[in-house]
Amino acid sequence: MKNLKLSSLIILLTLFTYGVKAQGLKDSYEGIFDIGAAIDQRQVNGFGKDQIAHSILAKHFNSVTPENLMKWGSIHPSPNTYNFEPMDKLVDLAESMGARVVGHTLVWHNQTPNWVYENEQGERLDGLALIKRMEDHITAIMSRYKGRVFAYDVVNEAIFDNGEYRTSKWYEATGTEFIKRAFAKAEEIDPDAELYYNDYNMWKPAKRETAIALAKEIREAGIRIDGIGLQGHYGLESPSLEEIEASILRIAEEGFKVMFTEVDIDVLPNPVNRHGADIDATFEFEEQYNLYTDGLPAEIQEKLVKRYAELFELFKKHEDKITRITFWGIHDGGSWLNNWPMRGRTAYPLIFDRNYQEKQDIIQVLHEIAAK
Ligand code: G3I
Repeated sequence: MKNLKLSSLIILLTLFTYGVKAQGLKDSYEGIFDIGAAIDQRQVNGFGKDQIAHSILAKHFNSVTPENLMKWGSIHPSPNTYNFEPMDKLVDLAESMGARVVGHTLVWHNQTPNWVYENEQGERLDGLALIKRMEDHITAIMSRYKGRVFAYDVVNEAIFDNGEYRTSKWYEATGTEFIKRAFAKAEEIDPDAELYYNDYNMWKPAKRETAIALAKEIREAGIRIDGIGLQGHYGLESPSLEEIEASILRIAEEGFKVMFTEVDIDVLPNPVNRHGADIDATFEFEEQYNLYTDGLPAEIQEKLVKRYAELFELFKKHEDKITRITFWGIHDGGSWLNNWPMRGRTAYPLIFDRNYQEKQDIIQVLHEIAAK
């Protein structure tokens, strides 16, 4: 009780300090699309400074995605162990602030322990056995959160940038069957949840077209798929707005909802000018790729504001097709981009800085765009 009072007091004080007067982004975008953030263990626990994250979340966001807590390795680390507690807490937190939860992610090639693909002798499972394991996993998670998790990234990143299917262990054992069966099981377990395919670099036509063909195949098989998530890990200049817009139009034209599920903008250079999110593509740290350790120069901040503004103008233009924009993290200090494509960077991709302060120039512009 005492703790509860103390935490309410901290939230009130923080709201006061960080600007209780201004309305949140979720209010400005009400009826346009949901505004989401990915959160992780630290924010869920709300220790120390991360208590501030709760008030930011409550003020600005009406959608929450677990950045890591629902990935196979976190929630189902060994065959008979489910680690539900962190996710339970996240769902409680989201509900306490009236935010909807997006389950990320049921099936992925990454953060999936080796045992998933193997029998007790350490031999690779055949397709049928692997699909059974996947279905059990989906059943356990979706049954637990039925009615509380609003939507799921059912399958994540199954397609390479060139439009070919990713040769993951899932694909090697089952072809594309695992994808269809994942959606079918998800629909069966929670018929009310929205179900999505989610991937990065979806502005690349070859990749996008394979995703669309896949979604159509699933739909034609009588299995529900509601939308296609475009992650939105972008740079300051690339991809172009035209490339992004073409994907929004193509996906919507085929009758699928569009959402930007993991938005952040990387202002730092990297060795091959790579954006997207191929997390296996990493490099040794080099100072020349970590340019702004003492803060972002004004001209780069201006570019960041402009890029966010152009993107949100595009999103707003297509508000009839787009259902949600989710930022991949809350504040710069917690972003995965501090460690990708090399560890030890000082990254500036989000709309709150390392001290959990609003980047007011960006947030102001986003409010203005909503009001246009
Ligand atoms: O949980 C372990 C912890 O026990 C261990 O001590 C620590 C040591 O490094 O690692 C912790 O796991 C890390 C995990 O994040 C949780 O913090 C992993 O090493 C690290 O690789 C992992 O990175 C995440 C990455 O996905 C891989 O799962 C990033 O935080 C997360 O932002 C990123 O998110 C992905 C989306 O899910 C899919 N799209 C691309 C996006 C960016 O890569």
